[in-house]
Amino acid sequence: MKPEILVLGSVWSDQVRAQMQAAFNCHFVAAMPSADDPDLARIAPAIRGVLTSGTTGITPQLAARLPALEIVTVHGVGIDAVPLDLLAKRGIHVTNTPDVLTDDVADFAVLLLLATVRRLPQLDRYVRDERWPAKAPLQQARSLRGKVAGIVGFGRIGQAVASRLQGFGMQIRYFQRSPGPAPAQRADSLLALARESDMLVLCMPGGPETTRMVDAAVLDALGPDGTLINIARGSVLDETALIAALESGRLGAAGLDVFEHEPQVPAALRALDNVVLTPHVGSLTVEARRAMGQLAVDNLTAHFAGEALPTAVQ
Ligand code: 8YV
Repeated sequence: MKPEILVLGSVWSDQVRAQMQAAFNCHFVAAMPSADDPDLARIAPAIRGVLTSGTTGITPQLAARLPALEIVTVHGVGIDAVPLDLLAKRGIHVTNTPDVLTDDVADFAVLLLLATVRRLPQLDRYVRDERWPAKAPLQQARSLRGKVAGIVGFGRIGQAVASRLQGFGMQIRYFQRSPGPAPAQRADSLLALARESDMLVLCMPGGPETTRMVDAAVLDALGPDGTLINIARGSVLDETALIAALESGRLGAAGLDVFEHEPQVPAALRALDNVVLTPHVGSLTVEARRAMGQLAVDNLTAHFAGEALPTAVQ
């Protein structure tokens, strides 16, 4: 009998669906089911595995409803939406999909930085709105060469962003709590990094340790000529403080791929001209999503075959 798997969320490509359906008895659920969901009650006792996205994760309430749960496989690198301690106490394995998305996410960080600094969407709107023939004034942009990029979170993705930005002639500084590679480039604190940087790129993991780590003081330290890029999690940033800083000109510009309550993006943010907004798409390439799907399926297959998990978190 094929193992019963709950597949949570709505990011699944046809390929992942087909792979999952070939190997498992899948129950696809687009949104996190409520505790008293009657459909869930019917299937819950048999569920042995959960496949979920990085942002959907699994709630403690849902995990508690699944008595036979053995493994939670995250289709994504971020595991901040998974209650690791609680699952560990029940001996439930957790896997994610690191490495296979690093290059595409890092490329996207650079794209978002360039689009924000060079004002790409604003220029596109300028042409579409026929402001060019009307000779409407155009704002000059800022160059990257010689500027300081402050990377917050110097893990796989942060380091990949840094090596790309070096190619643009930027100086690299970084901050993370734990010691990292290249100690000479590490700032003493996030505030110190923000003071030293022209552009701050947020690449740290989400979770309680990083919640609202980027606050009004950090944004003020980055300053009126500063640019903030967030490809990490909406939770790492105080969105209200960000809006206030952007509205008042205390912060120059922001490029955001993630939001505090995504897919909801505050109207005040959408109304600003000095922001570039994208719908959490850092890993949304055919290649990365194919590899993430394959790795997720490989982890589940290995588990049910009694083999070592390719990318176990715990
Ligand atoms: C995805 C992500 O949007 O890897 C992560 O942690 O946030 C993204 O790559 C998501 O996990 C897709 O399932």
